[in-house]
Amino acid sequence: MNKRMNLLVRRYRVLRPLAALCVAWLSISAVQAAADASKPGHAAIASASPYATQAGMEILRAGGNAFDAAIAVSAALAVAEPTGSGLTGGGIYLLHRSSDGFEVAIDARERAPGAASRDMFLDAQGNPVPKLSTDSALAAGIPGEPAGLAWLAAHYGKLPAARSLQPAIRLATQGFPLGRKVREVLLSKQAQFAADPQVARNFLRKGQVPAVGTLIKQPELARTLQALARDGIDSFYRGDLAAKLVSGVRAQGGIWTTQDLADYSAVERAPIVANYHGARIVSAPPPSSGGIALLEALNILSQFDLQQADPITRKHLIVEAMRRAHRDRAVYLGDPDFVQMPIGRLLSNDYAAGLAASIRTDRATASSELPGLGAGAPQGPQTTHFSIIDAEGNRVAATITLNFLFGSGRMIEGTGLFLNNEMDDFSIKPGVPNGYGLVGAEANAIAPGKRPLSSVTPSFVDTDTRSLVVGSPGGSFIIGMVLLATLDFVDNKGSAHDIVAAPRFHHQYLPDVLRYEPGAFSAAELDGLKTRGQNLELSDRQWGNMQAVIWDRSSGKMEAASDPRGDGAGMTE
Ligand code: DON
Repeated sequence: MNKRMNLLVRRYRVLRPLAALCVAWLSISAVQAAADASKPGHAAIASASPYATQAGMEILRAGGNAFDAAIAVSAALAVAEPTGSGLTGGGIYLLHRSSDGFEVAIDARERAPGAASRDMFLDAQGNPVPKLSTDSALAAGIPGEPAGLAWLAAHYGKLPAARSLQPAIRLATQGFPLGRKVREVLLSKQAQFAADPQVARNFLRKGQVPAVGTLIKQPELARTLQALARDGIDSFYRGDLAAKLVSGVRAQGGIWTTQDLADYSAVERAPIVANYHGARIVSAPPPSSGGIALLEALNILSQFDLQQADPITRKHLIVEAMRRAHRDRAVYLGDPDFVQMPIGRLLSNDYAAGLAASIRTDRATASSELPGLGAGAPQGPQTTHFSIIDAEGNRVAATITLNFLFGSGRMIEGTGLFLNNEMDDFSIKPGVPNGYGLVGAEANAIAPGKRPLSSVTPSFVDTDTRSLVVGSPGGSFIIGMVLLATLDFVDNKGSAHDIVAAPRFHHQYLPDVLRYEPGAFSAAELDGLKTRGQNLELSDRQWGNMQAVIWDRSSGKMEAASDPRGDGAGMTE
């Protein structure tokens, strides 16, 4: 075990009791799930790429567990769905270990570089400089994904990391057949990519976007992956590769240093856990807002009898719960290593009862009526989620991201890696909306070494008889999507496929708009919601790319479903 890994392990040993304490303090529920005696005996994986799903299955067949498979799926997604995630990105891995029911979130979220500063994206007048936090090299946070993968291999996997990286190395070397979704993104970025010889070499043919099915080989990325397999995934943060990353970023005007990379470590955090109508929900803790906002919304909804409510009132109540949870996200949440958050209060039943009492069933609350801060766009195939249950019952829900499509679309010379633009997830100025229209305040202001607040919501939901592993990309829309999926699952509304395919609606407090996909509301529901004062807006795009795995513990049936909005695949075996 190298020195750095030793350090990581020490941190882990210190953190584990702390994590348990933290949950006790939240007084929500124990982190230890009731261990289920029976094992599924079958495995299921759903991801946004069939090649990544197959990579995970290959590793399970080779004797790996769900945690090894998570390494294989993440690395394969970095190759075959480079729009959504990559080694230069980050995310949160939620784990459930079947042998003892231990549950933990691996926080592999990016951090602001040491030279970052609160107003770095503002001009001399204090106004945001257009696109600086999204398109420039300054937009890139220090990557967390390699540290997350190294952590998984060191603490939870059974196979050497080098084995789990093999399918991705093969995909990068031999090529993956270009899919419909990635091709659409390439078309939208053709001019930008044609001007960058390195990107063009990998993704274009004579400056043009190739046809669906064309084999896309990424030799530089293959070399980077091979180096990680040879020297350890953690070697990303030191030595030759780190030096190459830093000089490549600085050549484009970025501020990364080798110290920033050396200082990065993944952190184990206690998941957010609560019950809703008898189901146990486990979800992502800060620095993601996902778990808290999801469970706050569910707590509010548990004050009502949604089963008995007529369909219009039911959807109205869900919208009002989303509005309130998103307000608290904007006001209170940020990196737990930097800000104090009233998590216990936000998740208490009294608080939920207070918020529920402020909801009128006959009228929408204008967001401006809620105390607090005083806008957004649906997304394409950016960010990615995958869900795994192995034959032993180990589970992984992981949502990983570069933020926008291909991050900032800037490649680091000689590495095959795109820069993330995760710095835009900070609140670059109080009240100024980010790329997803999300507003924030002090708690999510930029500071050196701080992690930007995320919306990723990788989650587990357990009812008496069934277990769901779920999550989705979709920026600010993620929390609402996972909320709708959780409600459908708990209310037993259909199969895994039905859950990921269901039309969606979303409210995020600001802008004060209820957005919906075609089919989300019947004509009568649209009328009823309008009459109650909801500001309805039909979305011209589909949202998210949900990946769900369901294990029916009473019948033994396993399902894996990939959102029909994307190109992914669910497999069971
Ligand atoms: O961490 C976050 O909340 C965002 N960076 C996620 C972005 C995303 O999901 C884009 N999806 N379509």
